[in-house]
Amino acid sequence: MPFGWGRRGCPGEAMAFRVINLVMGQLLQCFELSTIDGKDVEMTETAATLMLKITPLQLMCKARPHTRNLLA
Ligand code: HEM
Repeated sequence: MPFGWGRRGCPGEAMAFRVINLVMGQLLQCFELSTIDGKDVEMTETAATLMLKITPLQLMCKARPHTRNLLA
């Protein structure tokens, strides 16, 4: 569903499925993520097909020490 469907569906879907795990892994490896107010993430979703989050996810990200060296 997030890639659309039919003749105009996303041609990058297969590539995205392969790459997204690597991207997520790198983000978690390089940054410490926390909620802005320190509370748990609000997980309530809409009842629609795509199950969007009702409260948008807002996070703080702080580079881990090894990432700071990498970016310097
Ligand atoms: C998480 C990653 C991605 C998401 C969620 C995504 C989502 C979408 C969506 C919703 C559409 C519109 C489909 C429609 O109109 O029905 C689209 C179109 C398209 N996407 Fe992606 N996409 C992603 C990654 C990629 C990648 C990696 C590529 C190329 C390497 C790509 C290339 C394209 C192209 C060229 C179109 C236009 C297709 C057309 O209009 O005929 N996308 N994508």
